[in-house]
Amino acid sequence: MTTLTDMTEAHTEVLTSYPPSADFAAAANATAALYDEAEADRLAFWAEQAHRLSWDTPFTEVLDWSQAPFAKWFVGGKLNVAYNCVDRHVEAGNGDRVAIHWEGEPVGDSRVLTYAQLKDEVCKAANALTELGLVAGDRVAIYMPMVPEAIVAMLACARLGVMHSVVFAGFSATALRARIEDAEAKLVITTDGQYRRGNAVSLKEAVDEAVKGQDCVQHVLVVRRTGIDVDWTDGRDLWWHEKVDAASTEHTPEAFDAEQPLFLLYTSGTTGKPKGIIHTSGGYLTQASYTHFNVFDIKTDTDIYWCTADIGWVTGHTYIVYGPLSNGATQVVYEGTPASPDEHRHFQVIEKYGVTIYYTAPTLIRTFMKWGREIAFAHDLSSLRLLGSVGEPINPEAWRWYRLVFGADATPIVDTWWQTETGAAMISPLPGVTDCKPGSAMRPLPGISAKIVDDDGNELQPSSDHGEHLTGYLVLDKPWPSMLRGIWGDPERFKETYWARFAEQGWYFAGDGARYGSDGEVWVLGRIDDVMNIAGHRISTAEVESALVGHAGVAEAAVVGASDDTTGQAICAFVILKAHHAEMSNEQMVDELRAEVAREISPIAKPREIHVVPELPKTRSGKIMRRLLRDVAEGRELGDTSTLVDPTVFEAIRAGKS
Ligand code: WT7
Repeated sequence: MTTLTDMTEAHTEVLTSYPPSADFAAAANATAALYDEAEADRLAFWAEQAHRLSWDTPFTEVLDWSQAPFAKWFVGGKLNVAYNCVDRHVEAGNGDRVAIHWEGEPVGDSRVLTYAQLKDEVCKAANALTELGLVAGDRVAIYMPMVPEAIVAMLACARLGVMHSVVFAGFSATALRARIEDAEAKLVITTDGQYRRGNAVSLKEAVDEAVKGQDCVQHVLVVRRTGIDVDWTDGRDLWWHEKVDAASTEHTPEAFDAEQPLFLLYTSGTTGKPKGIIHTSGGYLTQASYTHFNVFDIKTDTDIYWCTADIGWVTGHTYIVYGPLSNGATQVVYEGTPASPDEHRHFQVIEKYGVTIYYTAPTLIRTFMKWGREIAFAHDLSSLRLLGSVGEPINPEAWRWYRLVFGADATPIVDTWWQTETGAAMISPLPGVTDCKPGSAMRPLPGISAKIVDDDGNELQPSSDHGEHLTGYLVLDKPWPSMLRGIWGDPERFKETYWARFAEQGWYFAGDGARYGSDGEVWVLGRIDDVMNIAGHRISTAEVESALVGHAGVAEAAVVGASDDTTGQAICAFVILKAHHAEMSNEQMVDELRAEVAREISPIAKPREIHVVPELPKTRSGKIMRRLLRDVAEGRELGDTSTLVDPTVFEAIRAGKS
């Protein structure tokens, strides 16, 4: 665990603030009045935001919190999420508006989908899913690269009240299998293969492995993307272009209860088993839509919005699928990696489509910094008017570089703090209102309430500019519409993980350390639990440890996240080998272990360093002191070692490390 003291020492505030230009402020969707409205009557404010959506049956109560922490928002209301994201824009006469400018990884491979075309595709897919026997409440696993069919598949599920569980296509067959099993998915939707840095690689192979022997999966629906050969199981496997393309474009959306489960999204917790985070319909869509409209200042007639996330993460769900589409926005969806075919790709895409709003992660901004500003300056980026950041704290240097190089030192930057569990942005500037401080997500959005508190739940005071900076726990002290409704199959874990720490006060414990700045703004400093943040990807130390000890040669393993200039944190592992592994050199063993982690979890979870050590530092109760290992990994003087059984263990560890 990172202690709050570690965080405080590592953090220094930068004072300059950046107000929006007068022009931006004057035209902005959100003004300061939004804070006042929310302040005056929070629930009435949320009711008003919910009315931005189209309801089949109006709700009779905004919030039922009587079964806390299990919330019900917009009680009695009925709506169809897909209708709200697609049909209603067509009915309003905007069927010819582009919904998706899709840019494939191979240069020149692109597609345009208008809202009318998207509606036809979603209806066909919904009809096909119905023919396959799916009914409201069932689960569908979606394991796909960033192709339009992935978005169509999600919306088709939503249209039927079927829950989707999107699994990032970079995850291994083992990780996919665990998620399919936990959710008892009836259908898996995938592609034959995917492009990875110019090469077509198989994806269906991983699905075949993941569904082997799983009784729950009845069908695998396969989109042909790369044309590479696939193994085929007759009766189980179906081609999308045969099944979906043959279906009718007529489909009447059914209205579902506001609390109809919309999706499951698995995320890492402090144990090895990923949590299936449950989101529902009315509240989730209300906050996704409201935040997308106000934080990204969307003007549907003129903006070209681009969020660089993958639909395998919550950012892709909320700010590629449900937020933008519910608002009728026009967006760019890009299939590939930023360096494919070379480092110019993102800038070319911005130039090609005239992207006006660009939303990405700090780790990518730092990668662009490493590549050098000349690359960006070789392109016309003058269409950009608003930039966004998400996934981890953005360091002030990267913030300023982003604004200077992407934003001609003029565009606002919205640094949005939120989580898979919160469903949508919670703490963020409003771009036409907030004087931003680089590195701070600033204030809770209108309608949202957050506090930074000490161990006993006392709220911290704003820091003085020169005095001590007190660090505390970030909590959400009032329910919000897009809050998670639980963990799939494990209500106890839901209560324990998020609601037990401040049970007396009834607050949600976010797992992040934070402090107030001198103007009362929030500085989120990072996780205080055993969750790491690698390039914006959430991976728990326990998951990696369990992959390592799964190898026959490993006796014990301890994993920490150490700071890394590009990825924010990097995974460092310390392993004790079993005596009998001796036929292999330590170097060979380390290579094998890195491969094992990639196989078990994903290449994104491969440790940057694996150190073979004779012992691990433990407390008398047998708990591994990760804090001390982090000191070692980051080359620092050791912190307090007095609780260790054997303080000399570090000499041996340091020897193993060098
Ligand atoms: C964790 C949530 C939000 C979607 C992507 C990640 C960190 C996220 C910020 C930010 C500082 C941030 C937190 C949070 N985080 N955004 N703007 N500033 N930290 O979702 O995988 O659920 O991870 O990401 O530590 O708890 P996630």
